[in-house]
Amino acid sequence: MGASCAQRIAERGYGEVVLVDIVPGLAQGKALDIMQSAPILNADIRLSGTTDYQETADSELVIVTAGLFRTPGMTRDQLLLANMKIVTGVVNNIVKYSPQCIILMVSNPLDAMTYLAIQVSKFPRKRVVGMSGVLDAGRLSAFIAAELKVSPKDISPCVLGAHGRNMVVIPRLTTVKGKALTELLPKETIEKLVERVIHGGREIVDLLKKGSAFYAPSAGIARMAEAIVLDKKEVLPCAAYLDGEYGIKDSVIGVPVKLGKGGIEQIIELELSAEEKQALHTSAEGIRELIEKMVLS
Ligand code: LAC
Repeated sequence: MGASCAQRIAERGYGEVVLVDIVPGLAQGKALDIMQSAPILNADIRLSGTTDYQETADSELVIVTAGLFRTPGMTRDQLLLANMKIVTGVVNNIVKYSPQCIILMVSNPLDAMTYLAIQVSKFPRKRVVGMSGVLDAGRLSAFIAAELKVSPKDISPCVLGAHGRNMVVIPRLTTVKGKALTELLPKETIEKLVERVIHGGREIVDLLKKGSAFYAPSAGIARMAEAIVLDKKEVLPCAAYLDGEYGIKDSVIGVPVKLGKGGIEQIIELELSAEEKQALHTSAEGIRELIEKMVLS
């Protein structure tokens, strides 16, 4: 995931990328390989690999993909305690060398790991954001595009909530060129698509057996990185710390946010129906349980 993400970002050419991994040689090897593609792609690529966080000093944006990933039969939540240790160590190093950076979390279980990164870093909430909504929304658009035989570019997806089984896909606010999905497809078809999005990661884990998705996740990361580094003020679904928005306090959950140079520059509150609100609150309760498990361990 990290290498794929470094490749996408480095190829866009708007910054210097440093890949870090604890395994000696791994980040260096990946970086060399990507760097050697630059002349072939006619691209200006500046990147390096290291095991030493010092080389990442004064980064503007730090993307955390570190941690274990799922194997078939596992849920993301089962990674909680193992990844908690890994992410804590990584975030301590980030704070030490890049105290002013924005942290973009990708490690799973995503919402809980983003919460943890805020606690460990003590950064203001706008400087810690999680990537999952862009991926889940991408999956939703891809499946709708295939079903309706339209361009995914014409779809404006709406996905909120946790990155997991309590994801909140909102067909009413998902539109295709202004028309709500609920007007375009029968209820049963929508339900099937939504189920497939919720289990989108697992479907790939089951196929790959020894790894989880990385092409679409790294595309999501690159999209968010671009919004931040280029100060695009783009509204994207991201995991953000809520302090009363949507009636949720002291938790991290997927909501639309405006991303720019300052990180999360605004949290967008959508008008939800009572049923949608309830689904979001159930989702938040699931995340809270994970947060409490981390506190107790
Ligand atoms: C997925 C992993 C990245 O959904 O959580 O594929």
